[in-house]
Order: sequence, then C-alpha cells, then structure tokens
Amino acid sequence: MRVEPSGEACGAVVTGVDIAEELTADLVAQIRAAWLEHRVLAFRDQAMDDDALERFTIAMGGFGEDPFFAPIEGHSHIAAIRREADETSPLFAENWHSDWSFLAQPPAGTCLLAVDIPPVGGDTLFADQHSAWEALPAERRRQLEGLTAIHSARYAYAPKGTYGEGDKGRSMDIRPSETAMAMQSHPLIATHPETGRRGFFSALGYIIGIEGMPEDDAMPLLRELYAWQTRDEFVHRRTWEPGMLVIWDNRAVLHRATGGYEGHRRELHRTTIAAQA
Ligand code: SIN
Repeated sequence: MRVEPSGEACGAVVTGVDIAEELTADLVAQIRAAWLEHRVLAFRDQAMDDDALERFTIAMGGFGEDPFFAPIEGHSHIAAIRREADETSPLFAENWHSDWSFLAQPPAGTCLLAVDIPPVGGDTLFADQHSAWEALPAERRRQLEGLTAIHSARYAYAPKGTYGEGDKGRSMDIRPSETAMAMQSHPLIATHPETGRRGFFSALGYIIGIEGMPEDDAMPLLRELYAWQTRDEFVHRRTWEPGMLVIWDNRAVLHRATGGYEGHRRELHRTTIAAQA
C-alpha cells in the first residue's frame, strides 16, 4: 500500500491496495493508521460495489447512525448523494460541517464511493480542524477552551429547514422530521479519542449556540470561528475520479460539497463509520 500526502493541511491518495476484497487485520490496521495520520484518504482505481462498500465500512469500525436519509434499496446503511443533470434545487451539503455532529454519538468517519462522476466540478473540500486550532494564538485558544457548543439539525432537516417541506425537486431521498429540533451538547474544542490531538469539533450550522452565552454574543463568535476554521491554508481539495473511494475523519475535519457540474449527473454512495466504543 502506497500513501502519498496531498501536501495540503490534510489528505492523502492511497494506491497499491484492493479494498473491495476481504481485508486482513494487518491491512485494516495500516489503513486506519494512515487515516488517523492524514484525516482524509482517497483510494484510487477501486472496483467496489455496494456490498464491498458495506464490508469496508464494517472493517473500519461498523456502521454509524444515519438519520434523515432514506437508504438505497437493499442496503439499509447506504445513502445516495445524488444530483440529476437537470436538477435546479440548491446544492446538497454546500456549507462546511462535520457529519451528524448533532447526535449524542456522532460518527467517527464517513465513506463516499464514486458512482457517477461528472467530467468537471463536484469536488469535495476538507478543512483540517487540528491545524485550524493549532494556528490560533495561545491567548485566543485560552479564551475558547472549556466552551460547550449546542448542536442541532433544525436548520437543515426540520420541516422548516433547508431540506424540509419547502425543498422541491431534489432527487436525493431526504426525510425531514420534527426530531431535527433536538439539541445536543459537545465541547467546542475536543480531544481526538484516537490521536489525542486537540481541534475544533463541527461549526456554525449544526452548532446553533454556546452554553451559557447570550445569542447576541454566541452568533458573532461562531461566525468569526467559521471564517477561521475554513481558511484556505487549512483546506484540502478532493477532485473525484471514477473508481475512487474517499474516507474522512469527522472528528478532525470539516467538509463541504462544491458545484460547477451543471448539466451533468453526480452520484456517490455514502456510509458512516460508528464512533469507537
Ligand atoms: C456530504 O457532505 O456527505 C457530501 C459531500 C459531497 O457531495 O461532496
């Protein structure tokens, strides 16, 4: 297995390994080590179907919970991230986020498998949250340590949210629900449970407030942090290729989708990797 770092704040390309096959414990350990080191891995030239995607996800730690998405037929843990060539609804997942950070046990990681890749555009961007934290002046870090963020899916998946009742003409099978109104607290700055590195966890969007802080103070702070967390120097750009599987560490990076493929279809199959017990 060869691992070539992107040269950006995070991300690496992996070749010389067939991850569609049953993986040995030794290979899983090598992949997990590379994943923890680089936070985002892109496996090139794979021949994976949905069964292989499920096998790989189980080997990496098992399935996480996936609310608000209807799974694809026959695979209860796979969701299709899809956009038809003539679709005009706003892009899915265009804001920076960490997947399902509003859950009590957010997923450790996400796997995204190329199914139908447009000839241009549709890159996925990743922002390394360890680098973003470590680059802050010590005095600013001291001010932010100990804050607790309030997370919720309400602005995205509640009936009145972005993907709620008013969201028409979307080919993705999203199921908005009142359960999206729930709130869940997590430390704003978290210690990665496997590497011990400190970093921001999630961002404004799924974070809707700070415990004990008036909204008039919390929102400007969260907006300021969002701008810092997603600065160009922390960002890795992943351009998709047919046969590519990308996995990322939600405990260490934010990500977002990009457009630029109008008139072309795009489909990727997604699983989440459960938090480690
Ligand atoms: C996602 O956030 O799961 C989708 C990212 C993408 O479509 O590039």
